[in-house]
Amino acid sequence: MTVKLTYYGHSTFGADVDGTKLIIDPFFAPNNPVATVTVDEVEADFILITHGHSDHIVDAVALAKRTGAQCIANFEIVGWLNNQGIDNTHPLHIGGGNSFPFGRVKMTIAHHGSGLPDGSYGGNPGGFLINFNDGTDVLFAGDTALTYDMRLIGEVGGVDLAVLPIGDNFTMGPDDAVIAAEFIKAKRVVPCHYNTWPYIEQDPNAYADKLDAIDIDCTVMDVNDSLTV
Ligand code: NI
Ligand code: MN
Repeated sequence: MTVKLTYYGHSTFGADVDGTKLIIDPFFAPNNPVATVTVDEVEADFILITHGHSDHIVDAVALAKRTGAQCIANFEIVGWLNNQGIDNTHPLHIGGGNSFPFGRVKMTIAHHGSGLPDGSYGGNPGGFLINFNDGTDVLFAGDTALTYDMRLIGEVGGVDLAVLPIGDNFTMGPDDAVIAAEFIKAKRVVPCHYNTWPYIEQDPNAYADKLDAIDIDCTVMDVNDSLTV
């Protein structure tokens, strides 16, 4: 089994797990200023949504309606999606996990907000710790501050790959994201949530150098780049 990860820009990723297609935090062109792919150009079997902010959910309804993909999100966001006519949903909440055909998904703690685009209450924000069926562990941290709870993930064995926000301003910045990578015991890090807008301008290669200095691999993905986890 292989997990192929594709970066669409900002915090939007695709994961192709032996043909099963996941989209994480759908925010495509033209809504996403750094994306070149539109929501009509991607396929999905599962859509994972970390929190209710528009830069993570704005294309979810269109994608779910066209593809029939199952949406995985917190209970409140699932209720909001149900109200938009999306019936194929699976609610999770922080600390809970569930086994899906591609692996087990556990919702992790994120310190952030989760208000939905129309002002509806979006519950608490989270991240997703995915244990794929081949044993590969990938953490999509979501939008979050550095939190001491990240140590818990490291203490139970760490992850093969952590996708971490580094933009600062709305989430942790590069220095905190270095500590996060240590806490999580990530073997490899992919940075995200930077250079989408002036508020979150960062140099991802400088971040990669800081991780390199402590022997953690970092892969800076350009928009539309793919890697095999
Ligand atoms: Ni956010
Ligand atoms: Mn965001």
